[in-house]
Amino acid sequence: MSLLYQFLVLLQFSYLKFCTCTDTLTSTHLIKDHDTIISNNTNFKLAFFSPANSTSRYVGILYNTPVQTAIWVANRDKPLNDTFGTVAISEDGNLAVLDGQQQLIWSSNVSNSMANSSAQLLDNGNLVLLDKSGRTLWQSFEHPSDSVLQNMRIAVSNTHATSLITSWKSPSDPSVGIYSGGINPPNIPQLVVWNGSNPHWRSGPWNRQKFIGIHNMHSVYGIGVDLVRGDDGSAYLTFSYANASIRTHFFLDSEGNLSRRDWNYGKEDWEITWTAIKSECDVYGKCGAFGSCDIQDSRLCTCLEGFEPKNIHEWSRKNWTSGCERRTLSQCERNTSTSNQDKNDRFLKLTAVKVPDFPELSHAPESACGSECLNNCSCVAYAYDSGIGCMQWSGNLIDIVKFRGSGGVDLYVRAYFGKKITSDLFSYGRGKNSLEYSHEGSPQEKINQVKLEELPVFRFEKLAEATENFHAAQKLGQGGFGAVYKGKLSDGQEIAVKRLSRSSRQGMEEFMNEVVVISKLQHRNLVRLLGCCVEGEEKMLIYEYMPNRSLDALLFDPLKQQSPDWEKRRNIIEGIGRGLLYLHRDSRLRIIHRDLKASNILLDEELNPKISDFGLARIFGGSQDHANTVRVVGTYGYMAPEYAMEGRFSEKSDVFSFGVLLLEIVSGRRNTSFYHDEHDLSLLGYAWKLWNEDELVKLVDPSISESCSQMDILRYIHVGFLCVQEVARDRPTISTVLSMLSSEIKDLPTPRQPAFTERQTSSETMFLQQSRTRYSINYLSVTTVEGR
Ligand SMILES: *[C@@H]1O[C@H](CO)[C@@H](O)[C@H](O)[C@H]1NC(C)=O
Ligand SMILES: *[C@@H]1O[C@H](CO)[C@@H](O)[C@H](O)[C@H]1NC(C)=O
Ligand SMILES: *[C@@H]1O[C@H](CO)[C@@H](O)[C@H](O)[C@H]1NC(C)=O
Ligand SMILES: *[C@@H]1O[C@H](CO)[C@@H](O)[C@H](O)[C@H]1NC(C)=O
Ligand SMILES: *[C@@H]1O[C@H](CO)[C@@H](O)[C@H](O)[C@H]1NC(C)=O
Ligand SMILES: *[C@@H]1O[C@H](CO)[C@@H](O)[C@H](O)[C@H]1NC(C)=O
Ligand SMILES: *[C@@H]1O[C@H](CO)[C@@H](O)[C@H](O)[C@H]1NC(C)=O
Ligand SMILES: *[C@@H]1O[C@H](CO)[C@@H](O)[C@H](O)[C@H]1NC(C)=O
Ligand SMILES: *[C@@H]1O[C@H](CO)[C@@H](O)[C@H](O)[C@H]1NC(C)=O
Ligand SMILES: *[C@@H]1O[C@H](CO)[C@@H](O)[C@H](O)[C@H]1NC(C)=O
Ligand SMILES: *[C@@H]1O[C@H](CO)[C@@H](O)[C@H](O)[C@H]1NC(C)=O
Ligand SMILES: *[C@@H]1O[C@H](CO)[C@@H](O)[C@H](O)[C@H]1NC(C)=O
Repeated sequence: MSLLYQFLVLLQFSYLKFCTCTDTLTSTHLIKDHDTIISNNTNFKLAFFSPANSTSRYVGILYNTPVQTAIWVANRDKPLNDTFGTVAISEDGNLAVLDGQQQLIWSSNVSNSMANSSAQLLDNGNLVLLDKSGRTLWQSFEHPSDSVLQNMRIAVSNTHATSLITSWKSPSDPSVGIYSGGINPPNIPQLVVWNGSNPHWRSGPWNRQKFIGIHNMHSVYGIGVDLVRGDDGSAYLTFSYANASIRTHFFLDSEGNLSRRDWNYGKEDWEITWTAIKSECDVYGKCGAFGSCDIQDSRLCTCLEGFEPKNIHEWSRKNWTSGCERRTLSQCERNTSTSNQDKNDRFLKLTAVKVPDFPELSHAPESACGSECLNNCSCVAYAYDSGIGCMQWSGNLIDIVKFRGSGGVDLYVRAYFGKKITSDLFSYGRGKNSLEYSHEGSPQEKINQVKLEELPVFRFEKLAEATENFHAAQKLGQGGFGAVYKGKLSDGQEIAVKRLSRSSRQGMEEFMNEVVVISKLQHRNLVRLLGCCVEGEEKMLIYEYMPNRSLDALLFDPLKQQSPDWEKRRNIIEGIGRGLLYLHRDSRLRIIHRDLKASNILLDEELNPKISDFGLARIFGGSQDHANTVRVVGTYGYMAPEYAMEGRFSEKSDVFSFGVLLLEIVSGRRNTSFYHDEHDLSLLGYAWKLWNEDELVKLVDPSISESCSQMDILRYIHVGFLCVQEVARDRPTISTVLSMLSSEIKDLPTPRQPAFTERQTSSETMFLQQSRTRYSINYLSVTTVEGR
């Protein structure tokens, strides 16, 4: 009995052994689950397998390695649920997978197949179905799953995009996933990975040596990839090494990442040696139309020069898909007479980039590639690669990536240089006919423009649309340098647009100053700059919109409708202090605001204060603590005496303004509201009078004087006095002020008489007149005077 059993086992074993020794399946053979067919060189096997974390059975071609690696799956969309499946040559001569009930699960499905065919697993991993004369009827290499093996030929279709490989749904499910890979388009072939029907990654055009959009790709000799063209115009892509038995293949994983795997003989495991998607920039069209992706730029996406984000709101939230549009129309787009085209249109050079998708081939030689593009208004860019020739683009430029290291081609993008230099110009072409490098802008303009590049730039039309053509009803306020309008962008975002008056004395210098200063600052108590606009005479700044407007509107509302309680006022004072501290100490730059006042404090929904209007701000160098200016600009009533009279400004002059502001907030009265008082006193003088009379409670706004925080309020007033001391030295720094307000510093020094206790009897103009006369050496220009 046991002998018989042993014999049977032996018999079965020898039968199995016989089966595994052959690389061919014939009509008289049948392989069951656990049987295999092995290629003659033992590199590959045809076998049943279950993917990781799955019990389903699949028939596939696998590397004959200890690590299960399927490179092709027959019944990928119809798994077997048990181990009773078989692989056989069916009656019609097709290769077939059958279940335990002999039902057809999968077939090679060759229509005119014949009897007595056989299937052979070749040494290169190709499973071929042969007729009895040895003719190939079907081969797995022509029906790949997710892998490309050496010597597989990827046909390049002349007419349409060829989808070749398809990803698995997941590592444990070989059924067809959403990603596919293939070659597209036919005129300049490139590899593409699609997500459904959308491109997900592309290699850039093939230049007979390499794909020029693959970073650091070495030529065909390096990685063995080659595109072979037949005489009949057909072409196929293939990859091979001299040593065909090296285990290597490309595969498209279920996340859409095309990778190459090489067997590490030492480690006895696979090693990923190349991947298509190494960084976000490799994802197709990451930065949208006319955007450029640079992995070493913290912003990742930037618009090409002369372009601006289409949707600034999305863009600032790092959603770049909507891309960029031209800031200035090209001469072509302006529809001006064609003979003038080349006067103002030039090309901007982008060095070493992955060229955009959809190039069109031109037969122009290198020397004429650029001029041909310039003279054709449909042409928006061109590039030249010696292996491909002249490439030109029309329409949107999509999927541009800045390359660092080797690779990339120089791309020349059409730009309009009619009015003003926006950057360095580059001559087109490299031939004799190239235009001269030229620009009209001054060096300062150039610097300004470079600074502007950091910052989103809005188009004038967009802002006009957003503000209903700067309609009076949209006006939020009028400042010394122009009006501020409320606006609504097409995406619904509310903005505040500061439109600088043409006649404003704030020239380009102040404008750029504000833009540069604010764009570098970030603090919850500073208003956020969203962008700017410079077009012709127009200069505008775009801020986040603050629904509760400015502090002066709230505080000095004659109807006192929404008079804030002490808690809110306290929060406002502290917030302003913290914003100022950030300017003076915490930001990497040291900034003196110079024009702190109630109308420059904006309030958000929760009445948190945000300091705005940095038009006069000055940035200080490291050890510098004060400066002189020949132009005193600021607002009368808030200016420290040394600044108003001598043009000396420092952190302490901002502290002075802060003190005035504090007293205004506590008293609910403008410092200018005392002009018609019989006392002939300024706010500071009035407050000081009350202090001396020990009647300070009278200074407190009646709407908060009932507050039980009276001690607190008096403490604030005391600190306010210290801030408005005549001599700058006597005023605390803003950080000390904050400590005093929070009672961290308990013992407050006794204040001396503040500056400006006597109201100027002369009118403001006279005051200035005097100043001019007195300080005739330092020419003092007009102080911004605002009646609020
Ligand atoms: C199978 O491989 C052996 C050497 O390993 C070789 O001698 C033989 O010719 C091969 N057979 C076929 C059919 O290629
Ligand atoms: C299989 O499941 C284990 C445990 O859930 C998990 O850690 C592993 O990543 C899975 N493997 C695959 C290929 O999905
Ligand atoms: C195996 O089970 C799955 C899920 O129930 C089913 O879709 C599939 O058709 C079954 N396969 C066979 C061969 O019965
Ligand atoms: C076999 O091929 C024919 C046409 O070539 C097709 O209609 C049919 O669906 C295929 N069958 C299978 C099982 O793939
Ligand atoms: C198939 O092969 C067998 C034996 O080799 C032979 O008798 C038969 O005629 C062949 N059938 C066809 C259709 O060629
Ligand atoms: C693939 O496409 C789907 C559907 O369009 C989308 O939801 C998904 O985010 C895409 N995947 C990637 C990685 O882009
Ligand atoms: C080909 O590669 C295999 C695996 O690395 C190696 O064993 C073999 O010697 C190589 N053959 C040649 C001719 O280099
Ligand atoms: C692609 O694969 C590489 C290597 O495994 C990995 O570093 C990279 O993050 C992958 N990319 C994506 C998008 O999954
Ligand atoms: C990005 O913007 C597009 C519109 O341009 C929108 O359809 C998409 O939902 C946005 N994506 C995210 C993540 O907000
Ligand atoms: C230029 O002319 C074309 C065709 O006449 C027209 O569609 C386009 O809107 C014009 N562009 C401008 C900016 O006027
Ligand atoms: C102009 O350029 C477009 C797009 O590159 C091209 O289709 C068209 O043929 C060109 N026209 C001329 C006259 O060269
Ligand atoms: C602040 O603005 C919000 C939104 O516009 C409004 O509902 C609220 O009443 C305002 N609060 C004050 C104190 O003005």
